[in-house]
Amino acid sequence: MLNLQQYNSKGNTMPQKHATVHHSEKPRKLKKIGVFTSGGDSPGMNAAIRAVTRTAITNGLQVIGIVGGYEGMIQGDFRELSWLDVSGILQTGGTILKTARSQEFRTKEGRKKACESLLKEEIDAVVVIGGDGSFTGALAFSEEYDIPFVGIPGTIDNDIFGTEYTIGYDSALNTVVQAVDKIKDTAVSHGRIFFIEVMGREAGLLALNSGIAVGAEVILIPESTNDQKVFEHFISKGYKRKKTSGIVIIAEGDEMGGALKIAEKAEKENPDLDIRVSILGHMQRGGSPTAKDRIAASKMGVAAVEALIDNRQNIMIGLKHEQVVHVPFSEAVKLNHAIDENLIKIQHILNS
Ligand code: F6P
Repeated sequence: MLNLQQYNSKGNTMPQKHATVHHSEKPRKLKKIGVFTSGGDSPGMNAAIRAVTRTAITNGLQVIGIVGGYEGMIQGDFRELSWLDVSGILQTGGTILKTARSQEFRTKEGRKKACESLLKEEIDAVVVIGGDGSFTGALAFSEEYDIPFVGIPGTIDNDIFGTEYTIGYDSALNTVVQAVDKIKDTAVSHGRIFFIEVMGREAGLLALNSGIAVGAEVILIPESTNDQKVFEHFISKGYKRKKTSGIVIIAEGDEMGGALKIAEKAEKENPDLDIRVSILGHMQRGGSPTAKDRIAASKMGVAAVEALIDNRQNIMIGLKHEQVVHVPFSEAVKLNHAIDENLIKIQHILNS
């Protein structure tokens, strides 16, 4: 019989005031840790699973892979990971542990079931690899139960506060650049303007940096306030007066709308323009991780297990100036990752 209350030291109701512990005073005896991936996959997640597994085994811990994100945790879909189970995955995209966006874990009942599954399997602590949705889930869990979580940021959006880097961003950036370089060939040949939509949810960093890397004439991102003006300036001065083709990169979260909507409006207002649209979509999330992603994932995977051994909990492992930092989940999910204004300036100097 599981004694859930024992692990539920803050009572089984969500406290009004956030009181999450980041460093436990009483030394914890770790024997078995769980690891899982959650939310949108990103290249390098497998490298992180490998690093977590091997660091844990090196420290005498047993490792349980939780299959299918929080959903798998609720269902008790567990499989032990050995040193060899994570061999040959460093260079692969996707995630061997599968992933999901669990609706059930958003509910109190779902989190209770997840806790019961973890206790039944005797998992003492958990490493979650994912984005802010995954950390929001971990934070809610930590306010109700005392099983420690440590997070590793994995998302192509690079939108998490407290870390300069999230696993998968560099791979996605290179994928976008390769794709747009190809589109540019045909844009130049036909004298067309291409409106290319890049992922990133509400964040524009992937669009901004890929736009700079391909020399896009215009980059539209949610963080900038004068998108409309910049765009109109390009159409009237840049394209009509001197350009014979053009690349407009649009972050999917831009307030002017997606690529289709913006292109449709531009076409209506400028019937003389030859416009095409390309939505890069989920190809941005696939493929082999770059060296940068493999290294970041390895660094963060080792740091996550070391943090658990050091009694840390409810924190995300971040990177600042290439060095590991610990960021409380409460900060990582509440604040936004600000965009470097200098990048916007660089774009305006070089490509407008
Ligand atoms: O957060 C990663 C991301 O790829 C975003 O850039 C995008 O908006 C979203 O996930 C797409 O999610 P899904 O794969 O669930 O459609």
